[in-house]
Amino acid sequence: MAELRKIITEVLREIKPTNEERKRLEALSLKVLEVAKGEAGLYKATSILAGSLTRDTWLPSKKEFDLFVVFPEKMGEDELEKNGLEVGKRIIEKLGGKWKVDYAQHPYITGTLGDIDIDIVPCYKVESGKKIKSAVDRTPFHVEYLNKRLPIELSDHVRLLKHFLKANGIYGADSKTGGFSGYICELLVINYGTFEDFLKNVSRWDAGEIIDIEGQWPKKDYEKLRKKFENQVLILIDPVDKNRNAAAAVSANSLFKLKKIATNLLDNPGKTHFEKKEMAPLTQKEVKKIMEERGTELLVVNFKPPKVVSDILWPQLKRFTKRLENIMNEYEFYVLRSDFWSNEIDMATVILELEVGKVSKVNKKVGPSVFDKKGSESFIKKYKGACVNGPFIEEDFWCAEVNRKWDLATDKLTDSLEDEVTILKAKGVPNYIAEELKGGFEILKGESIAGLMKYSSDFAVFLRGYFEKEDLS
Ligand code: UTP
Ligand code: MN
Ligand code: MN
Repeated sequence: MAELRKIITEVLREIKPTNEERKRLEALSLKVLEVAKGEAGLYKATSILAGSLTRDTWLPSKKEFDLFVVFPEKMGEDELEKNGLEVGKRIIEKLGGKWKVDYAQHPYITGTLGDIDIDIVPCYKVESGKKIKSAVDRTPFHVEYLNKRLPIELSDHVRLLKHFLKANGIYGADSKTGGFSGYICELLVINYGTFEDFLKNVSRWDAGEIIDIEGQWPKKDYEKLRKKFENQVLILIDPVDKNRNAAAAVSANSLFKLKKIATNLLDNPGKTHFEKKEMAPLTQKEVKKIMEERGTELLVVNFKPPKVVSDILWPQLKRFTKRLENIMNEYEFYVLRSDFWSNEIDMATVILELEVGKVSKVNKKVGPSVFDKKGSESFIKKYKGACVNGPFIEEDFWCAEVNRKWDLATDKLTDSLEDEVTILKAKGVPNYIAEELKGGFEILKGESIAGLMKYSSDFAVFLRGYFEKEDLS
């Protein structure tokens, strides 16, 4: 453990904000708060600082702080949105910065003053974390809770944890990452006391782990809780609302990745565990070799991503991929695996890796037994004159051979994607993507994806990740 402590000290030296950085951020936050009080007052609202700045758990690689504008509960939602944006813009403008509108549950303002980012989020003043009108209304209660429960001595442990997760690609509760939010890191450190103890405990976590820091549920209710939060791999009861799982966004992949990296760090302490692993883009030669070795058919659908925020784009890409996978399976182009990727600028791609890209032109339908009179009648009625062979009998069963409508996966896929927008939507293609497909798409097969790889090395990096799956067991 001495080795681990030494490494921790070294890493902390690199990731702790300097006194100067801290002073600068704190001074600016107070200035912003001062301006905010005036602006918010015009709407009978108050302002508070929130997020990692208030608990000194921020990392200098993300110079950002969060300001919440708390409006009276009786204000209408439209009004809250309008006033929230207005207050945000005015604050940033008064201080001579730049702002834009971002979208979460409500639109909010993100501003920049020099090299510092500020999120200005409107919310309602509610009675308690259990009686919220929208998810952001809980944040002031989180601030209050952490003020009480996260002692300053633990700040560095949180920082370490955040940095550790970031380096390994599982920090952030956004839908693309499906990882751990800053708030979760803070709660976990409160629960386990130190970064080291956290590591030791994580390595024995399993799916459905329950952490209830304030003991809001009796142990005998744990099975009930697992039902309540079904399919959520980590159940971290929110101290300010016992009916909420603060870790609902954590994916199974992120949880097992965390287990793995924690175990690796304990077994084999080293600074590399805290460093981002850059993956090299897959080369054309490698793709060729991989395709030969796997003997699968790789199809890539490429189109322009709709201009929507990440938290809309990624879930839509996921649903779209699932939909295409179902279509392929339905036509017996069995999907081995699939995935999706976007640079969020001009490329959105869905990968469909098929066991077979070409099936026989003829397909055998096996009908009922000859002893089933009613069934036989309707089978014969359906296929007589409408098949290329039969209806004939194999063993005791009626059969008929018919021509398939599609024997090539690419043809079926093209046909499906060329539908009218309304039909695409009716068939379950997510709205924004359906609209975007109207503007065109391409389907690339096997090695012909080389052009895309050349165009975007990030795509080629993603492909390597797709083919080289890490052992998470
Ligand atoms: P952050 O994402 O800024 O996290 O959200 P953080 O704890 O400050 O951690 P880092 O250091 O920046 O990564 C701060 C608070 O604002 C709320 C979050 O739930 C969190 O409580 N928030 C932020 C929202 O609810 N919605 C948003 O769109 C942004
Ligand atoms: Mn923040
Ligand atoms: Mn933020």
